[in-house]
Amino acid sequence: MNISIIDYASQHQPAIRTILEGIGWAEQYIAAAEKNVESFARMPEYFGVYLAQAEQTVAGFIYVHFYEWNQLAQIRGLAVDIRYQRHGIASLLVQRAETFAREKKARGVYVDTPTLNHKGRAFYEAAGYQLGYIMPRYYEDALDGVTYQKFF
Ligand SMILES: CC(C)(COP(=O)(O)OP(=O)(O)OC[C@H]1O[C@@H](n2cnc3c(N)ncnc32)[C@H](O)[C@@H]1OP(=O)(O)O)[C@@H](O)C(=O)NCCC(=O)NCCS
Repeated sequence: MNISIIDYASQHQPAIRTILEGIGWAEQYIAAAEKNVESFARMPEYFGVYLAQAEQTVAGFIYVHFYEWNQLAQIRGLAVDIRYQRHGIASLLVQRAETFAREKKARGVYVDTPTLNHKGRAFYEAAGYQLGYIMPRYYEDALDGVTYQKFF
């Protein structure tokens, strides 16, 4: 499959919703992601917002935030269309986010995900991220978070 990684532009915003609805995310998370990509793309000094295109379709996205104060970058959103998963798309998106982080001279990248997100956790582990810590009640009272880290 031919996959290209491109910069986000406003015309792509509907694709974000399509991807997340397909995955079955709750509306509050979809609405937040739509807002995030729009506002983050306007601040390229601190954010990288990228899309994966496959067969003329937006098949995935990632956004990453660089923090000057501790020289770390955080992946704040990553998803791949359910129809395009397991084709290496998230791997390419994370590589692009890591390149963004290195360009900012970050010390590494971290990401939070629900402890119950077994697919996401398996993906980050395969991508060379290490379990940092568990955050009790991070997403909801009954849903803990887990942080994965990769230091360069
Ligand atoms: C997690 C997610 C982004 C992975 O996207 P993807 O494009 O399918 O991932 P890749 O094809 O690059 O996978 C690379 C490797 O990660 C691991 N991996 C990915 N998905 C996996 C799964 N469902 N189960 C087990 N391992 C998995 C595998 O080792 C895989 O390599 P392989 O296919 O050669 O076995 C995707 O499943 C998704 O969008 N999930 C919902 C949103 C989400 O959880 N986002 C991340 C947390 S915020």
